[in-house]
Amino acid sequence: MKTQITELLGIRYPIIQGGMQWVGRAELASAVSNAGGLGMLTGLTQPTPEALALEIARCRQMTDKPFGVNMTIFPTISPPPYAEYIEAIIDGGVMIVETAGNKAIEYMPRLKEAGIKIIHKCVAVRHAMAAERLGVDAISIDGFECAGHPGEEDIPGLVLIPAAVRQLSIPVIASGGIADGRGMAAALALGAQGVNMGTRFVCTQEAPVHLNIKQALVNANERDTRLIFRTLRNTARVFKNSISDEVVGIEHRPGGCEFGDIRPLVAGARGKAALEAGDVDGGIVTAGMVIGLIDDIPTCSALLERMVTECREQLSRAQSCFD
Ligand SMILES: Cc1cc2nc3c(=O)[nH]c(=O)nc-3n(C[C@H](O)[C@H](O)[C@H](O)COP(=O)(O)O)c2cc1C
Repeated sequence: MKTQITELLGIRYPIIQGGMQWVGRAELASAVSNAGGLGMLTGLTQPTPEALALEIARCRQMTDKPFGVNMTIFPTISPPPYAEYIEAIIDGGVMIVETAGNKAIEYMPRLKEAGIKIIHKCVAVRHAMAAERLGVDAISIDGFECAGHPGEEDIPGLVLIPAAVRQLSIPVIASGGIADGRGMAAALALGAQGVNMGTRFVCTQEAPVHLNIKQALVNANERDTRLIFRTLRNTARVFKNSISDEVVGIEHRPGGCEFGDIRPLVAGARGKAALEAGDVDGGIVTAGMVIGLIDDIPTCSALLERMVTECREQLSRAQSCFD
């Protein structure tokens, strides 16, 4: 395939695996890249910048294709050494970075100076325009359907994608709610130059996640996600399980809630342990509405080949309306 995104990133198919905390490790990133897409390591999944450097080297041994690193940068009370993670990426020779989070812009000059291509992921057109002004190379725009942080404005992809395409000159990557060739065809028809997926890649053979979790997502339908942290204006879309139900319950208690009230339930270490042990109710499991469209656990290669074939079929089916 040839789009502005395949050209920009040097990849065969315009299909990107978004950064995923605890999931974006070398096994998955290299499998996506070997399948013709763009795999992505998740910087902060590694406990230190030194560990990220080793993970980059490990990924490079597993693929000779381009891959990227996600850096998710939010203001926090005790921030990780973001600048050192960025240096590990540069020193590791990675040429593509997916930035996310409202503090990411602070690190863009350094990335650009090192000649790295930046895909900035955001959830609002005005944020995309600000990133374009700062010189990023592409925007991933994440609709309300997405796993993780959809923001507080609740604009679904069907509106958000063309709204971004209309306002930006740089290529737009559609993100959120895409799991198959139909979604990919729709994204291209809306003007996107590629697609970014998270949840779909969790349900692949190569994702370093316990089979119980993958199977729970396969069994789920599109109504099985929850929005947590809504009342704290830091919304996250996650899998509906007993932990996310409890969090939402606490958030809606009379008098509201503070982060401290739910902190033990949502601890990152707990979510990580749940993914590794396959304990579906053990912690927060990030997932998007698109679980309603996922029925199997293919290899990344089988997934991408199927998506591209289906995308082509769907676009020619639509084209036939004009024959
Ligand atoms: C398990 C999981 C963890 C995620 N962690 C991150 C993260 O650390 N940083 C980030 O920018 N996005 C994260 N995301 C969001 C994805 O990169 C992507 O934007 C999103 O999943 C797209 O929506 P979809 O799941 O409907 O494809 C995560 C998604 C999942 C499923």
